[in-house]
Amino acid sequence: MSSLAIDNVGLLITNDPSLGDGALGEVRDAAVVFEDGVVVAVERAGVEADERVDAEGRCVIPGFVDSHTHLVFAGDRSVEFAARMAGADYEAGGIRVTAAATRGASAAELERLARERRAEGLRAGITHVEIKSGYGLDVAAEAKSCEVAAALTDDVTFLGAHVVPAEFEADPDAYVALVCGEMLAACAPSCRWIDAFCEVGAFDADQCRTVLEAGRAAGLGLRLHGNQLGPGPGVRLAVELEAASVDHCTYLTDADVEALAAGPTVATFLPATDFSTRQPYPDARRVIDAGATVALATNTNPGSSNTTSMAFCIALAVRDMHMTVAEAVRAATLGGAEALHRPDLGRLTPDARADAILLDATSPTDFVYRPGVPLVRETFVAGRRV
Ligand code: NIG
Repeated sequence: MSSLAIDNVGLLITNDPSLGDGALGEVRDAAVVFEDGVVVAVERAGVEADERVDAEGRCVIPGFVDSHTHLVFAGDRSVEFAARMAGADYEAGGIRVTAAATRGASAAELERLARERRAEGLRAGITHVEIKSGYGLDVAAEAKSCEVAAALTDDVTFLGAHVVPAEFEADPDAYVALVCGEMLAACAPSCRWIDAFCEVGAFDADQCRTVLEAGRAAGLGLRLHGNQLGPGPGVRLAVELEAASVDHCTYLTDADVEALAAGPTVATFLPATDFSTRQPYPDARRVIDAGATVALATNTNPGSSNTTSMAFCIALAVRDMHMTVAEAVRAATLGGAEALHRPDLGRLTPDARADAILLDATSPTDFVYRPGVPLVRETFVAGRRV
């Protein structure tokens, strides 16, 4: 089988402190060698391989692992966004607008749209992605969304409990029963995860617990949207249920931070959402300094975060959430892999999947120092240039 080496790497981020300096395991003047889809060696520059990519002193980092996206949707909410920029508040109810458009789209049209978004993220260095359903909100449209997502990733999340659709407005518990019954049965075969939106205007803690426990009984791993629009029980519920990740974490109490530090649940920050909804940014420093594991994700969706740029999320995390560049890069790569329980991703170490980004920069500091500049020169997935 043939090998590919990225050689003459000025700075290689491995994310393994045993291979190099600091928390990111930085190696200077390095080469990384791929074979059969995985990393086989990290060496000094000047290696032999069947194919050799000359980095000419630039920086190479692990590919971005985007652990929270909603790539399967139809329609557009730019008018809602413009109204928000003019002073309107963000409301969870906007999800129903996208659900109406998504229900009306064919599976082929949804797949075309999702593939375009996935290609955009890939060009921006996202080498692995989690994709949620959640804009179908009936059995057929949720199953259709999960199947479309499964064509693009093996980390698909069933999010039937995104909001209560209008036809169940008078009886939300009947909708929860549908999510836990017929809808879960139709979606689980395409999914690895189940999620719920724990928030005023979406689902309360009891309803989320019911949904997540039904998902667990169906063999799915747990994730939760929590504490996005105000303080609430989401973070503590996720930790109590040992969810893999609780996402948003914008409004945290001391008890929430203590729970995250003591439990197995990754705190996933989605700062492009806070940017686009004019929410405050999460207090990442408090969470990290308490000892919790954190991830950064794009939350690509039509309502609250219509971006596929992890570089933008890193810039916000450093500029506005006071994370160091190293913390933000780790959170966008290894942190995402940890939030998805994917030990094969997020690192450039022997046996990891050979997912890497060759930057048009000598250091990842440029994500913040040169905001908005496209810095992804080449992306490699499973050892192949894409
Ligand atoms: O993560 N919070 C819930 N879901 C999405 C928003 C979806 C929308 O507004 O369409 C989010 O921000």
